[in-house]
Amino acid sequence: MNIGIDIEEVERFDKYVKNDAYLKRIFSKDEIKYCQKKAKPAQNLAARFAAKEAVWKALNDNKLIISDISVKNAKDGRPEVYVKDKKQNKIKVSLSHTKQYAAAVAVVV
Ligand SMILES: CC(C)(COP(=O)(O)OP(=O)(O)OC[C@H]1O[C@@H](n2cnc3c(N)ncnc32)[C@H](O)[C@@H]1OP(=O)(O)O)[C@@H](O)C(=O)NCCC(=O)NCCS
Repeated sequence: MNIGIDIEEVERFDKYVKNDAYLKRIFSKDEIKYCQKKAKPAQNLAARFAAKEAVWKALNDNKLIISDISVKNAKDGRPEVYVKDKKQNKIKVSLSHTKQYAAAVAVVV
């Protein structure tokens, strides 16, 4: 089993909320759509960025790039992570965000 953690400052993502070119480089279409519907998209984007970093740490695979990792929310709101060429049921994430910070923890079993 491996774990990974990351924390991000939400403020850093304020300037990216309307920057489509940046968003498309880092986030999936579904992630962008989900975050842009939220009241404070920078918080949700920062949490997803933290999730990508946390998953990357947990997987410890240098070939992975940030856009290979994405988060999709289940109907009940639970975040589920998808990683290119990896088994989805082996990787779990949990996200949290406040006005200032967003954090994520990832576990790979
Ligand atoms: C789900 C819940 C715990 C989120 O907590 P919060 O303090 O409001 O918000 P946080 O910033 O910590 O977490 C938000 C993230 O939780 C995740 N989340 C939402 N629903 C979830 C669920 N059912 N299970 C796990 N994670 C969930 C999402 O990833 C969300 O971020 P996102 O929308 O950007 O994806 C809360 O909204 C809730 O429903 N609480 C119910 C009351 C309760 O029983 N609390 C626990 C008492 S011990």
